[in-house]
Amino acid sequence: MRPIGVFDSGVGGLTVVKELIRQLPNEDIVYFGDTARVPYGIKSKETVIRFSIENILFLLKHDVKFICIACNTVSSYALPEIKNHFKVPIVGVISPGAREAVYATQNKRIGVIGTKGTIKSRAYELEIKQLDPKVKVTAVACPLFVPFVEEGWLSGEVVSTVAKEYLQPLKDAKVDTVILGCTHYPLLKPVIKRVMGKDVKLIDSAKQVAIEVNKILASENLLNKKGRGRTDFFVSDNPEWFSNLAGRFLGRPTKNVKKVNNV
Ligand code: DGL
Repeated sequence: MRPIGVFDSGVGGLTVVKELIRQLPNEDIVYFGDTARVPYGIKSKETVIRFSIENILFLLKHDVKFICIACNTVSSYALPEIKNHFKVPIVGVISPGAREAVYATQNKRIGVIGTKGTIKSRAYELEIKQLDPKVKVTAVACPLFVPFVEEGWLSGEVVSTVAKEYLQPLKDAKVDTVILGCTHYPLLKPVIKRVMGKDVKLIDSAKQVAIEVNKILASENLLNKKGRGRTDFFVSDNPEWFSNLAGRFLGRPTKNVKKVNNV
């Protein structure tokens, strides 16, 4: 059976792989992390589109049956521009996350947090407004969250202080639902929850996209019903760095991370 292709700017997309393995344990996965060019969150739309096309062409060499874009910045900037140029079905994280948030909100006030690129693109906001024009969206970029997670600073005074500063506009707007619109943010759930309050719902875009992949594969008769499901990891630089961080995102160590020269 052909594998599912997943790509991200780096290691963060493993939050999506973790959910895919949990929800689709029989599927083989080929993961590509563009560690040579991470971060994407501060790059221009044109650059993110160019990198994304190259990443997709790499995955297609592995005969993937389906592509899941784990990166929120790529899903925001590139997916609408590129998805019709490839035969293989491609899904990103924006629609599934937006849909779940619209479903979850009671007071029709949704907060979105993400990289500068994701917030600048207004992708979540536009998707939410399409689903329900009455929803008020408050969107804030939280650029320091990515390095915090990569450095393993998931709690403590510094992270709490920064989170309070970033999330204040969401509290002022009285949102009852927050989309964690970046691959890394699920790891900061406890601190975000503490700042926002226990009644505010946090939407994990990684979890939602895995549900979507499952549905699409089932509807297109592409589900792998047997097999043990293996994941192959490819990166464009620093396989050791990737392996060291991978455990934190995936909840288990990764072996055999291969460096490729596709960029
Ligand atoms: N993967 C990116 C995202 O979800 C975060 C890291 C980066 O800026 O490349 O937007």
